[in-house]
Amino acid sequence: MKQKGNQLPEQMAAIRQHQAGGALKIEQVAIPRPGPGELLIKMDAAPINPSDLALLAGGYMERSYPFTPGLEGSGTVVAAGSGLLPGLRLGKRVACSPQHAGDGTWASYMLTSAMNVAPLPRHISSEQGSMMLVNPMTAMAFMQIAREGKHRAIVNNAAASSLGKMLIRLALSQGIPLINIVRKEEQLETLKSMGATHVLNSSSESFEEDLKALAEDLGATLVLDAVTGSQSSILLNAAPKGSTLLAYARLSGEAILTDPGTIMKGEKKITGFLLGNWLQTKSLLFKLKFISKVKKALNGDLSSYISRTYPLEDAEEAIAHYREHMSEGKILLKIGSD
Ligand SMILES: NC(=O)c1ccc[n+]([C@@H]2O[C@H](COP(=O)([O-])OP(=O)(O)OC[C@H]3O[C@@H](n4cnc5c(N)ncnc54)[C@H](OP(=O)(O)O)[C@@H]3O)[C@@H](O)[C@H]2O)c1
Repeated sequence: MKQKGNQLPEQMAAIRQHQAGGALKIEQVAIPRPGPGELLIKMDAAPINPSDLALLAGGYMERSYPFTPGLEGSGTVVAAGSGLLPGLRLGKRVACSPQHAGDGTWASYMLTSAMNVAPLPRHISSEQGSMMLVNPMTAMAFMQIAREGKHRAIVNNAAASSLGKMLIRLALSQGIPLINIVRKEEQLETLKSMGATHVLNSSSESFEEDLKALAEDLGATLVLDAVTGSQSSILLNAAPKGSTLLAYARLSGEAILTDPGTIMKGEKKITGFLLGNWLQTKSLLFKLKFISKVKKALNGDLSSYISRTYPLEDAEEAIAHYREHMSEGKILLKIGSD
């Protein structure tokens, strides 16, 4: 193992969950040492994402307990196991994600694979960098999918999310019409003030009718669905012939509900999107160019607004705040210094 800086301590503070749905505790645990191909990262910051909530509730991904949550973050590589890539990353500030079923980013240190990090250039803060690997990459992927599928326009729901706001900026700068769906009246103005032209409230009486007319008019054949449940049925009904519904989350907690007749008659498709799976279908060259584009836009179209930061030990409080104010911006756990 190669190391940067002072001797590593033996123990660190980490947020631990002992059972699915259980309380979060800050505990002292041993700092792991990197094996071949692995890195030890001294963490700076980590966001709370909807996928973290799903993981904490249990049943989203396999986990053995106790475990440390946190599916993305940023920090500095302080130790590297054997191998060319780990050696190259030693001492670098990076965006990072945990290994499959491994302990996560809500800790003073995280062990991960050298493949799960991306170096952060100086112009990217550790805060923005901590949110680089999930939403910005996904927003760019959606625009790529729209281009590849020759879709004239896009529909997206849960549109007041951080990801939704990135899509609004990308769609505006790339000139692709985007129909944004929110569920709260106050979000109509928030999104319009960002320049969004088409914003619909799913709680309004005329929603289904308005969506159908607008989707037909704009030719919105790519439907991005983070909500699922009965909303999927409405989206599919409203979508023009030949549309594709891409399910990318299930915020309602419900299965996709639809009348098969809608799909059969309208030749509509339902498919799924997981960023990791999508990236796996791409070449190394594509991925390198893609991440470089994401880094360039991270302080612009792909930036995330941070509404509050909390120290690691207040993770429970941070989550409680996040659950109530999801659309206000990202909540970050600040672990180390920038
Ligand atoms: N598949 C993938 O690879 C992938 C990658 C990245 C992100 N995602 C997904 O993309 C979504 C947005 O992520 P984010 O980090 O940008 O979220 P975020 O900023 O934390 O915001 C979450 C949004 O979801 C809305 N919401 C929550 N529950 C809802 C429900 N039952 N019905 C309708 N809207 C609901 C909230 O709106 P309110 O203000 O109305 O509560 C809020 O605008 C998440 O679902 C996330 O899991 C998926």
